[in-house]
Amino acid sequence: MIIETEKDVTPAVLAELQRAPDGRFKEVMSAFIRHLHDFAREVRLTEEEFQAAAAYVAALGKKTTETHNEVVLMSGSLGFSQLICLLNNGQGGEIETDANLLGPFWRPNSPRMANGASIVRSPTPGPALFVSAWFRDRNNKPVEGAAVEIWHSSPEGFYENQDPVQADMNLRGTFVTDKDGHIAFRSVKPAGYPIPVDGPVGELLRAQGRHNMRPAHLHVLAHREGFKTLVTQVYVQDDKFLETDAQFGVTRRLIGNYVRHESGPAPAPDVTGPWYSLEHAFVMEPGSKRLPRAPISGKAQGERPKIPHLA
Ligand SMILES: [Fe+2]
Repeated sequence: MIIETEKDVTPAVLAELQRAPDGRFKEVMSAFIRHLHDFAREVRLTEEEFQAAAAYVAALGKKTTETHNEVVLMSGSLGFSQLICLLNNGQGGEIETDANLLGPFWRPNSPRMANGASIVRSPTPGPALFVSAWFRDRNNKPVEGAAVEIWHSSPEGFYENQDPVQADMNLRGTFVTDKDGHIAFRSVKPAGYPIPVDGPVGELLRAQGRHNMRPAHLHVLAHREGFKTLVTQVYVQDDKFLETDAQFGVTRRLIGNYVRHESGPAPAPDVTGPWYSLEHAFVMEPGSKRLPRAPISGKAQGERPKIPHLA
């Protein structure tokens, strides 16, 4: 159609979309076009602002490499990842769910470990942490034989794939639930960490006067046939960034209880000084087993990165 005024643009684009053979594509793109055009009308987007926005989207792509995903970071920083998670779990958002953000650092195929084993693979500071976790279905029945992948940042605030100093697969491991739906492992207590701010996400946070910290957490991904793959995190209850997580990941249900033990015998004889324990139970929802697409694929080389903390 020939466009005469501003009012003709949206119907023209929507009319062309009618040719698309894929119904879902047509539905998603039509809504996207309507909201995008309405957004520009609502804020009366200027030409300068539009050019800045185009440069910004291009910068997200340029900043993304095989060891860093700026797009995932951006989505989390806008709360979009959390929205998608909660819309797609807990019966379409109707009931509370244990599902949570995948984050950018998951790697598939971490080493299979025996229950109780340690996932510390290179010298890593920080107090010992002993974790016991249970996986149950909605009827409180144990889920036996689920593969449970664990990963977390080092107490210095880096995942091994962004930190050349750590051994390959440090602080990662895969455990299999026993007949009680239980796994156990040893690690070190995770610390909160800053998300990188040397790209477009940093610009966004600075423009909003936001800090770039995530509260300390463990990542968990559990999968077994017959269940929707559970992607989740367990947050440390006394972290000062719980309410202002830069990625909006914290839900009330996923605040854990990391118990500090000042003295007394630890579960392993080599532990000296205070140590921590965590017990947590997860509910797996019915559905189909599907692994996510890994947001990054490589391991960082060279020196340990320096990531500033925004106040
Ligand atoms: Fe994380």
